[in-house]
This record gives sequence, structure tokens and C-alpha cells, in this order.
Amino acid sequence: MLHVHNLTISARTRHGLRPLVKDVSFSLEANQCLGILGESGSGKSLTCKAVMGLLGEEFDVQGEVLFQGQNLLTLPEHKRRKLRGKEICMVIQNAMTAFNPLFSLKNQLLETLRTHLDEPDPVLLKRILEAFEKMNLYEGETLLLKYPHQLSGGMLQRVMIALCIALNPVMIIADEPTTAIDVVNQVEIIQELQKVRDLFHTTMIFISHDLGVLCQLCDTLMVMHEGQKVEQGSVQEVIFAPKAPQTQMLIQTRLELLRAFHACTEVAPCS
Ligand SMILES: Nc1ncnc2c1ncn2[C@@H]1O[C@H](COP(=O)(O)OP(=O)(O)O)[C@@H](O)[C@H]1O
Ligand SMILES: [Mg+2]
Repeated sequence: MLHVHNLTISARTRHGLRPLVKDVSFSLEANQCLGILGESGSGKSLTCKAVMGLLGEEFDVQGEVLFQGQNLLTLPEHKRRKLRGKEICMVIQNAMTAFNPLFSLKNQLLETLRTHLDEPDPVLLKRILEAFEKMNLYEGETLLLKYPHQLSGGMLQRVMIALCIALNPVMIIADEPTTAIDVVNQVEIIQELQKVRDLFHTTMIFISHDLGVLCQLCDTLMVMHEGQKVEQGSVQEVIFAPKAPQTQMLIQTRLELLRAFHACTEVAPCS
């Protein structure tokens, strides 16, 4: 489904190119979920944006991104725009920034579907309402009349996932979709994404620093550090037998936090 070869992304600066992602290669089979793990600034988002073709002129992108056999890096922008949304959808960290505050959800969701699907508005609306139902978003008709600021971060995130479902893409890239929302909503979003996988067998790239979430959703994991891939393997291999020191560090830190949490709850039980 997706083969990334020697992806190198550099920022164009006054002093020349500054490499940010270096020589990253990975593959993703259809119906699989690849988790990308790594500390903040390690190049996870840039890698995914390059796959989506969302990086502007200020970046130099080298290498190959083969999606269903087509190199996305050399595809003309109008063709890439067609792929984006219809074939590959992205769910971003802060849903609020994905929506325009001036327009109702109905307006924006319809507009997006119109760009990708050649169907009359009533059919598109039906698609949206069905997707809402699948994402447990009730009273869809009323919800559609709302403006982004009238919804919580968690709700907006679900609307964004519902929009993805309505577009029925072959691949979804979720870039830390649970980072900006509270824990209760995080659990629900993960369950919803799991449901998307189960129902539609969508291929997925899932970025998170939450090991628990990655274990639950992903088949394979790739670990990034300072713009490079340092490890890749099955979830079992990476989490339970990490080879790279950077992965060992990430897991160790997480375990220490958990231990501290358990120590606290032993001293002062919650109930
Ligand atoms: N627009 C940009 N201009 C210059 N540097 C950037 C830009 N976006 C990201 N970077 C840098 O690229 C590196 C990787 O960023 P990013 O992919 O966003 O990290 P991650 O998603 O893993 O937290 C970071 O050092 C970041 O500062
Ligand atoms: Mg990021």
C-alpha cells in the first residue's frame, strides 16, 4: 500500500538546507496499522505531512513515497489534491484548527465532500449523517448546524474522524489525535478508531507517544529520534524487546511514570 524510501526533508534556510528528517524508509501493508513513536521534535509530523504532500516550498523533500504504486512526491499538485481526502485522510492533533470558525459544520463538511465525491448534496448529507451515527454522534441534524467553537475538542475530533469515514479513504493518518483532549475522550477516540479499523479495514498510520494506545491499535511500530528511524518491528518486539537505546529510554520513562503513579495510589487510595 505505502512504501517510503529514503525520505529526507530539509528546511530551506538562508544558510542552505537544514535536514530535519533523514533517510527514513518504511512500508505499510494494506489493512495494517503502523504506529510512529518518538519524542517531540523527532520528525513524526513532518514525515506524515510529506506523505500527504502537505509540505510547502519552504521544505526540500527527497526520496520516494509510493502509494499504491504512484510516487506522491512527483505527482502534479492537482492529482495529489484529489488523492488527499479521497484516498488518504489525515486526522490532526488539534481539530479546532482544521475547521473554519466562521462556517457551520454542515457548510464545511459538505464542501469537503463536494470536492471529492460527485454526488448531489442530499446524498452527501446522508453520507455525513451515517458517518456520525457510526461514530456515536447523535442528533446529527442538530450537530450539523453548530459552529466549531460550540463543540468540545473531543467532539470536534470525532467529527473529523466521521468526515474521514464519509470520504471512505483507503488510508488514514492520525497525528496524535488524542493529545489535545482529556482522558475520557481519549479512550473514546481510540475506541472509535479501532472501530474504523474493524469496520472498514482502513490502513492506518497512528502517531502517538502513548505506548498503551499504540499497543492497542497498531500491528507494527516505528521509532524516530532526531529525524531518523531508529527501530521498527512488531509491537511485541519494539515494546517488549526494544533494541535501540532511544526506544529503551522511551519505554523506561513511561514505566517510571507508571511506577510513580502506583506508588502514589498505594499511599493514598482513591476511594
Ligand atoms: N515549519 C518548520 N520550519 C522549520 N523547522 C520545522 C518546521 N516544522 C517542524 N520543524 C522542525 O522539524 C523537527 C521535526 O518536527 P516534527 O515533525 O513536527 O516533530 P514531531 O511531530 O515528532 O514532534 C523539529 O525539530 C521541528 O522544530
Ligand atoms: Mg508532531
